[in-house]
Amino acid sequence: QIENKVDSLLLLMSLEEKIGQMNQYSANFAATGEVVDNQSGAYLKKGMIGSTFNAFGAEKVRMLQEQNLKYSRLKIPMLFAADVIHGLETTFPIPLAEACSWDLDLMQKTARAAAEEATASGIAWNFAPMVDMSADPRWGRVMEGAGEDVYLGSLVARARVKGFQGIQDYRDLSKSNTLIATAKHFVGYGAAQGGRDYHTTNISEHKLHETYFPPFQAAVEEGVGSFMTSFNDLNGVPATGNKYLFKDILRDQFGFNGLVVTDYTAIMELIPHGYAKDLKHAAQLSLDAGIDMDMISEAFVTHLKALVEEGSISMAQIDVAVARILEMKFLLGLFEDPYRYCDAEREQQVVMKEEYQHLALEAAQSSIVLLKNDDNVLPLKPEKAKRVALIGPFVQERKSLNGEWAIKGDRNKSVTLEEGLMQKYAGSKVKFTYAKGTDLPLIDRKTQKVTTQKPSSKGFAEAIRTAKNSDVVLVAMGENYHWSGEAASRSDITLPGNQRELLKALKKTGKPIILVLFNGRPLDLSWEAENVDAIVEAWYPGLKSGHALANIIAGDYNPSAKLVMSFPRNVGQVPVFYNQKNTGRPFNDQAPADYRSNYIDVENTPLFTFGHGLSYTQFEYSNLKLNKSSFSKGGKIELSVEVKNTGNYDGEEIVQLYIHDKVASVTRPVKELKGFEKIFLKKGESKTVQFTIDESTIAFVGLDLQKTVEPGDFELWVAKSAADESLKADFQYL
Ligand code: IFM
Repeated sequence: QIENKVDSLLLLMSLEEKIGQMNQYSANFAATGEVVDNQSGAYLKKGMIGSTFNAFGAEKVRMLQEQNLKYSRLKIPMLFAADVIHGLETTFPIPLAEACSWDLDLMQKTARAAAEEATASGIAWNFAPMVDMSADPRWGRVMEGAGEDVYLGSLVARARVKGFQGIQDYRDLSKSNTLIATAKHFVGYGAAQGGRDYHTTNISEHKLHETYFPPFQAAVEEGVGSFMTSFNDLNGVPATGNKYLFKDILRDQFGFNGLVVTDYTAIMELIPHGYAKDLKHAAQLSLDAGIDMDMISEAFVTHLKALVEEGSISMAQIDVAVARILEMKFLLGLFEDPYRYCDAEREQQVVMKEEYQHLALEAAQSSIVLLKNDDNVLPLKPEKAKRVALIGPFVQERKSLNGEWAIKGDRNKSVTLEEGLMQKYAGSKVKFTYAKGTDLPLIDRKTQKVTTQKPSSKGFAEAIRTAKNSDVVLVAMGENYHWSGEAASRSDITLPGNQRELLKALKKTGKPIILVLFNGRPLDLSWEAENVDAIVEAWYPGLKSGHALANIIAGDYNPSAKLVMSFPRNVGQVPVFYNQKNTGRPFNDQAPADYRSNYIDVENTPLFTFGHGLSYTQFEYSNLKLNKSSFSKGGKIELSVEVKNTGNYDGEEIVQLYIHDKVASVTRPVKELKGFEKIFLKKGESKTVQFTIDESTIAFVGLDLQKTVEPGDFELWVAKSAADESLKADFQYL
């Protein structure tokens, strides 16, 4: 039925009107009800803007839609989009942090909450989730992803798509709280050379199928409504002009029928890439590649008409793209009610509602990783320490707590660490004294120049005095939020500025040090890991930062998160990830040390591995049992393990299953995550955790790029992290 509606409308539309639908702008063409006299304003007056992003609020969007309808001859509604990456106004932890919870239900819930807020505020289309795989912490956008592992990354992609859309398939858009999700950026963006944003990628076809495609395919299987192109050159062809990606893979192989939008000015960028000779050529290349909508480049709106008229592209190509855009608008019910998503009353009720604030706290707590805790310095109890020195630029820092990409989250509303602690310890015997010690170096986003390379060390003396008068020193440090996210690559991933120097000075006081970190990427913590007593990786926890941290520091919440991205020992190790290949010359205890695959100045292992994260309690794994040691086609092995909470706190544990395929026609990584379960155990309690191994567990991408299984010998581990090898078994596939 919708197809008929689309076809009938297409018959009525002029070529210009069709091309207008393929044109997308940021919302800068109508400020106060009057159309602004600029280029986009001019297109609006011709009814030639199909979609707009960055307009927020039911009233504002209503006003823009009114403007659009006034000028659109056929009254075609505009589609409003936004980057709702980790919450709209209720800001949840950055996606990388949230992935560390390994809690798929939670991720689905926070995405749903974001969708509820966004869809009441005029937004029907979200530019999220980002499902790019990356193992390169130099790349600032790792903060938006789910880390280094493709198995976990694909599950997270599914959870987020389900959460945003709230439905089984994008075609079922009957409710006005459905937010169309976008799987982005297709593809390879996270493999940018040197971790430098927008840089070139070279990825073998096999690697694309094995690591980079699966989360996108998972999103398609969950009914994702749209895809966004990536900026990078992939194997010599920029993604935005890449037919192989958008036709052969996305449409033909994945069977995706939704809408493809470019990233910001990505069509235009085909020129500096050296792939298009001018904007007209770029428009042709990207339309030929299967792109439907042009974000910002004005390539389509400027050149498609001439390209059709001279026969370089066909009307049928235009119709296919426009049909996808119109279909989305029909599905969303925008033709029946263009203001369907502009519900000021619902906006009032939904945005920042109490339930979401609780969810923000739960998500923040579940995302914070306890990396180190010597001598149980944490939790901080009055019997252990009464005088606490609070030191560092993040103690009172508020604006960074939401991280980058919290476009609408009010940075003045997030709870600081100090506020959280003051509230938590009010009336207790623990007393805090504060000294900032140093500042965070800032960055000028326009020039990309570090503006304060080395902040002054003037505050060190006061910080040292404060530390000396304490029983324990709690230091809060990290990166200003502009230091991660888009266009925030780093070549040095240690703590910025002179924060490490301050730590070194504090270390000399001999007091125990608890380091709480706020950052959007794994950092090089080699000095810190050796010299401080506890490390709490808070990432950017969002609205409830201070409360979540105070709960953890006081022991009212037992940390349960585990890393989804390895922390290197130094930047030279990057990329370092748990599922590397063995090489022909593995460096291990059995092999002679010389002429092996290793560095001569640093170990091969990361400092903190994938899957690592401590708790205040201890979990003991035992009794690994397999119901058989082999299986064949159509069969399976059931395995179980007993996990006991042997410590003094109730707590959650993420039990992980890894396998290793010893010999295969395509060499396999030393370990691959194939399952996990997050369980809650009261102190003293035990649970049996079960996993199933079947053909899907051992399947891999063969040289023919198809999923394959091969008979052979396998190892498995049920483990606390990727480095834990204490519980191992062998099995065979016959
Ligand atoms: O959605 C984003 C994308 O991830 C990066 N460039 C800008 C887009 C729109 O804001």
